[in-house]
Amino acid sequence: MFIAPPSRGFIFTSAQLFIVLGTMQYSEDVFLNHIAQTSGAPFLISIERAEGIYLYSPDGKRYTDLISGIAVSNIGHRHPKVVDAIKKQLDKHLHVMVFGEYIQATPNLLARKLVDLLPPSLNCSYFVNSGAEANEGALKLAKRYTGRTEIISCRKSYHGSTHGSLSVSGNEIKKSAFRPLLPDVKFIDFNSLRDLEHITDRTACVIMETIQGDAGVRIPSKEYMKAVRKYCDETDSLLILDEIQCGMGRTGTLFAFEQFGIVPDILTIAKAFGGGLPIGAFISDKKIMQTLTHDPMLGHITTFGGNPVCCASALATLQVIEDENLLVSVERKGKLIEKLLQHKHIKEIRRVGLMFAVDFDSAERVNRVVENAKKEGVICYWFLSHPNSFRIAPPLIITDDQIEESCRVILKAIDNS
Ligand SMILES: Cc1ncc(COP(=O)(O)O)c(C=O)c1O
Repeated sequence: MFIAPPSRGFIFTSAQLFIVLGTMQYSEDVFLNHIAQTSGAPFLISIERAEGIYLYSPDGKRYTDLISGIAVSNIGHRHPKVVDAIKKQLDKHLHVMVFGEYIQATPNLLARKLVDLLPPSLNCSYFVNSGAEANEGALKLAKRYTGRTEIISCRKSYHGSTHGSLSVSGNEIKKSAFRPLLPDVKFIDFNSLRDLEHITDRTACVIMETIQGDAGVRIPSKEYMKAVRKYCDETDSLLILDEIQCGMGRTGTLFAFEQFGIVPDILTIAKAFGGGLPIGAFISDKKIMQTLTHDPMLGHITTFGGNPVCCASALATLQVIEDENLLVSVERKGKLIEKLLQHKHIKEIRRVGLMFAVDFDSAERVNRVVENAKKEGVICYWFLSHPNSFRIAPPLIITDDQIEESCRVILKAIDNS
């Protein structure tokens, strides 16, 4: 809709401005034509506010967010302690300098908190802005530290959408239009012991998701993960574990690697780490990280990485997970969902903690189920690389009653598919 500007100049009266903003706020036209689109079929619900596990549209409709905004809102939306921490930081300072120059209280406290939570060899955090950037930094760090160029990644993996992170992602359909990508990247099958022979003393690093998320929740064996660690040790290659989707309590431990009895050389986190604000990190031993400071100096730089407001949000998020003991009930809640989601059309459920892939016989049925559930106010969603399933990854704070109500809606959505 076009509203003519006022006759003299371009200054709207407040009444005109009110009308203009009122019609624009949730305009599909503005969204579809003036915000870049990522597909021909966006989810297209309007959100006015969010609280806990719920999203609310301007007409008052309530949606249960069973995907946590794709693995972000693990402690729910707008947790009061997170909002409070953000407000306190806003009253002190916002951005003051690019990453790595000034000493600021909140990034310092966040880095120190991570030292307390992680094994001793993961003691130095480089804060960045997103998951893709965390993986970019990690890959550069591995090349710089080892002086090697070969990167080994896994088929069906997803590590991000920038050139470097896309280069190590396994989905060929998503990559081919953007070649040439990074050279010297080799792909192996995830969870295949035999393929580990490709890790040699030419390999700078192996990058893998501890649990493959967008491949439809693929869970490796303990034996496999230990073998990956062993091959990396024997060849002096670095192991990068991407916990951008599966970290931050999603699997029932703060980090998924804890369940496999191994420690990566570099850990990447983002998504739920920020509690709803954009922040990621790649984390390693100081002796490895230190190589980014010389030859060349400023080996990785970022203006907004470690933004103090995002750090305040991340710090409060870690504190909430701890204070509210959120990890202890993850497995029980996961089991409850698995028990309730019994339906003849469900072919398989793959689950770790509160991270689910629910498989059907066809992508078309998945689409119908997701759409039916949306109409009834429950949000499930697709995977990037596995069209026959949908994801469920609710906020860890979801209650048993909310689980039962959501599962009833999903079962009805499947009935009507
Ligand atoms: C495992 C994994 N790695 C990396 C990324 C990229 O993170 P971002 O979208 O913040 O760049 C994602 C995003 O879905 C992911 O799931």
